[in-house]
Amino acid sequence: MDTTREKAWSILTQHVQEKPLLNHCLAVEAAMRAYAAKYGEDVEYWGAVGLLHDVDFEKYPEEHPGNAKNMLKPHGYSDQFIIDIESHARDWAPERSLLQKVLLGVDELTGFIIACALVRPDKSIANLQVKSVMKKMKDKAFARAVNRETIVQGAQMLEIELQEHIEFVAAALAKDFSMS
Ligand SMILES: [Fe+2]
Repeated sequence: MDTTREKAWSILTQHVQEKPLLNHCLAVEAAMRAYAAKYGEDVEYWGAVGLLHDVDFEKYPEEHPGNAKNMLKPHGYSDQFIIDIESHARDWAPERSLLQKVLLGVDELTGFIIACALVRPDKSIANLQVKSVMKKMKDKAFARAVNRETIVQGAQMLEIELQEHIEFVAAALAKDFSMS
């Protein structure tokens, strides 16, 4: 199976036009690649899952992520690849693999970190302090659309401290993600 970034990007941009969603996919990709490297897993594969995890969201928000299969199968993505994407449904029943835990664990968190950076005068993720992210986690009025519970659960699933998880994802974004 071809999991190159080039192919994943070309498919994603056929189905997603909205900038914020594209940015979200790029951010999740960066976090997935960083965690794959950390855990000694397939960086290319994890990155492609991250990049394509919301491929059906713009066109089929109601069925998301149930339509990813129809969009990816014709391009030769494996059943496992499609299951990995489908697994980030919040109500996914089977036990999640490491990749699947990471995907769920970074999905909301990347958006939250970006929101925290955007209220800084320099808008920089690199200069963002983890303690200020932790503080904003408790500020319910801030980025209220972001589900804090999912973020906390993500760290628990990965059996790492929330602070460490935030720090790791923020570093990945600072290194490999820039808002387009
Ligand atoms: Fe997502």
